[in-house]
Amino acid sequence: MTAQCVLRMGHPILLQVAEPISEPGTDALHALIADMWETMAEYGGIGLAAPQIGISQRLVVFGLEEDTPPDADTIPPTVLTNPVITPLDDEMEHGWEACLSVPGMRGLVSRHTRIRYTGLDENGAVIDRQVEGYHARVVQHECDHLDGILYLQRMDDFTQFGFEPEMTERFSGASMQSEEDNDNEAHPVVA
Ligand code: NI
Repeated sequence: MTAQCVLRMGHPILLQVAEPISEPGTDALHALIADMWETMAEYGGIGLAAPQIGISQRLVVFGLEEDTPPDADTIPPTVLTNPVITPLDDEMEHGWEACLSVPGMRGLVSRHTRIRYTGLDENGAVIDRQVEGYHARVVQHECDHLDGILYLQRMDDFTQFGFEPEMTERFSGASMQSEEDNDNEAHPVVA
């Protein structure tokens, strides 16, 4: 396993629509996934999409188990190829997101609250889950990378975007909770 360099916003690969994974279970795919887990850990993310390390293929990894605050979801370590997301209803909610490809920044992003996502794992087994809240946000953030979309492109209010220390300072404490009525602040999506 080798940690790779994460591409940053401005690199053209991050704007591409990635290609489907044609064959699960190959040695090359397993090696790529191992590198992605390593890279994700190195950068302190909870998710990573293959295009972020320069591989324009429809593959994401994500998971959140350790150091999970009690008010956040636990997300099993997941490898997902060729994912398809279907919103379960029209409800949207705002939550804080950061991206390893946009280091140092944070923004408030509107996402579907409840989704179903399907795809195959690294060996071709079907994954089919219905999730909500934080878990749903992570998956939507990751899968957007496969379509060349960064979270900034999902934002509707750029007064809610800034450098992490300033945003943490500005929104620390109870005012944050009341202003946006979201419970993601304690553990923003970093993916
Ligand atoms: Ni990201």
